[in-house]
Parts: sequence; structure tokens; C-alpha cells
Amino acid sequence: MEKKAKIYVAGHRGMVGSAIVRELTQSGFTSIVTRNSAELDLTTQDAVHLFFEKEQPEYVFLAAAKVGGIHANNTFRADFLYRNLMIEANVIHSAFTTGVKKLLFLGSSCIYPKLAPQPLKEESLLTGLLEPTNEPYAIAKISGIKLCEAYRDQYGCNFISAMPTNLYGPNDNYDLMNSHVLPALIRKFHEAKSEGKNTVEVWGTGSPLREFLHVDDLAKACLFLMENYNEKLFVNVGTGEDLTIKSLAELVKKVTGYTGEIVWNTSKPDGTPRKLMDVSRIHSMGWKHQINLADGIASVYKEYQQRHFQSA
Ligand SMILES: NC(=O)c1ccc[n+]([C@@H]2O[C@H](COP(=O)([O-])OP(=O)(O)OC[C@H]3O[C@@H](n4cnc5c(N)ncnc54)[C@H](OP(=O)(O)O)[C@@H]3O)[C@@H](O)[C@H]2O)c1
Repeated sequence: MEKKAKIYVAGHRGMVGSAIVRELTQSGFTSIVTRNSAELDLTTQDAVHLFFEKEQPEYVFLAAAKVGGIHANNTFRADFLYRNLMIEANVIHSAFTTGVKKLLFLGSSCIYPKLAPQPLKEESLLTGLLEPTNEPYAIAKISGIKLCEAYRDQYGCNFISAMPTNLYGPNDNYDLMNSHVLPALIRKFHEAKSEGKNTVEVWGTGSPLREFLHVDDLAKACLFLMENYNEKLFVNVGTGEDLTIKSLAELVKKVTGYTGEIVWNTSKPDGTPRKLMDVSRIHSMGWKHQINLADGIASVYKEYQQRHFQSA
């Protein structure tokens, strides 16, 4: 990509899109095009097509999506399927009709079958049944991958896909009703400390294993793939390292400086016992994450406190 190439980052106000914009800006790219969802609703076909016709972006990072935790995914099943399908279909088709040079679509590790062998290899896609609670979201994400593959097969478009593991970082969602586990823990421990509570309740036994990647590392991986990867098969992006939810909770407790007890509510479900990406493909291309989890959580907690302080 030339430094002056016109690059559209869809979803630039989100956690992933904002990290991609930061990374592009820091790397010297000068022509970044963005629209928020009020200016351009990506579920609206005509509006998306007009935008691509007018702006003629050369490269597209598709980081716009309806995203949420397990509760939101399971409750708003129609919204997660419909909106994500529409966003992907409109953006990918318009990228084709207006001759975009290259597009990177962002999926998620939930595309893999519930019982796929761990660590999750790219080849496990569509080899078994999905986790029922987020099946609509996963089906939409699998459709996005298949759209990229089909436009490549039929029309020769250079559309690629990246599948990130669980992410954390600036601009994360801390709403307890629909946030992911790491921001939820940060908020719980922070609030317990501020309110002087003796205990913090965490759901489950703490035994499931999970992997976490800082979103700034993901943004570097997206740029790396945009500049170096031109194949049909999508690419996992993660650290290749996991830890128990118990260890994660202890880490967040330490970073936030909370001194009370953690109470495990074992009547609540644990979810999948292990979820780890096989990252050997992206490692073999020469990319590896740089931010370790303890440092990453410490920097995110600083940002959380600043935000909390500003809005208080
Ligand atoms: N967060 C994670 O842990 C994680 C993990 C793996 C993969 N991913 C993937 O990364 C991508 C981005 O996730 P994220 O965490 O950055 O999500 P996010 O913070 O919720 O941001 C999503 C963005 O999408 C935009 N958007 C949603 N609906 C839209 C619409 N109808 N029209 C235009 N824009 C719309 C929003 O724009 P406005 O702000 O302007 O409304 C928002 O900026 C998703 O594909 C997700 O599957 C995320």
C-alpha cells in the first residue's frame, strides 16, 4: 500500500476500527476515509453503494459489525444475524463493483465448531455444530468469509479475512449486560475497590482457559496481512497462549489494586472448557504479538480510570 493510498476503515469508532486507524496513522498513511453509523448506515444497500462510488477507496478494512457478549448474542439473535449479513454483503459487493484493490474482513473465533480440536486450526471451519448461544453471529461471520472467498473465486477480487481471538484495549465496552469477560472483570474489581466491598463475585468455577490479544497487536496484524497476504484461506490472529479465568481474575485484581476476596459462583455456567487459536500460520509468515497480557491490562486499566474520572 502506498502511503497516500485511499483507505476506508469501516467501524472506525469501534475498538478494532479505532486501533486500525491509529496504526495506519502512526505508519504514515495519510488518506484514511471514515464514516460513523449515523452518517452511513452500512445495512442500507443504496447508501453504501453511493459512498463507494463517490469515495472510490482503494483499500478497505471491514471492522464494522454488531458486536456483543454472550447475553446480547443470545438475546438479539435476529439483529446479530440480519445486521451483520447486511453490513458484509453491502460493503463486500460495493468493494467489488467499484474495483477496490484489496479488502480485509474481520471475523471472530466464534466461527469454529463448539467441539473443534484445540488449538483451533483454520481447517476446522464448518466441520461441526456451532455454539448455540452465538450461532446467528457466527453464521453471519462465516458468510463474510465465504463472500470474500466467492468474490475471489468468481471475479478474482483480492479479498482476505482475519479471525481474531478475544480482544481487549482502548474503546472497549464496559457495559456489564453485553461486555466480554476481561472488561467486565476490570469494571467489577474497580467498582468493588471504589465502594470498599469485601468480595467480588465471578461467574463459574474459574477453570475455563481463554486467550486474549491487545487490539493494538491486532491492528498491526491487519496491516501486516493487508501488505503481505494474498490468499483465499482466512488467517487466525492471536497470541497462541491461554490462561484460566481464575488466573485472569487474579491478574485483574492485582492490576486494579483490589484487596478483597474473589467468590466463585459455581451455579453459573462455565462455557467452553478451552478456546485457543492455532496461530502457526501467521507466525510462519513472520508476525507475532508484542504486548504481554499483564502490561496490556495495566495500560487498559489506566485508560478506564481516565474515562471513568472524566465522566464522573
Ligand atoms: N471485540 C472483540 O473481542 C472481538 C474479537 C474478535 C473479533 N472481533 C471483530 O472485530 C470487529 C469489530 O469489533 P469491535 O470490538 O471493534 O466492535 P465495536 O467496538 O462494537 O465497534 C463496531 C463498530 O461497527 C460500527 N457499526 C455497527 N453497525 C453499523 C452500521 N449499521 N453502519 C455503520 N457502522 C456500524 C459502529 O459504528 P458507530 O460507532 O459509528 O456506531 C462501531 O464503530 C467485528 O467484526 C468483530 O467480530 C472483535
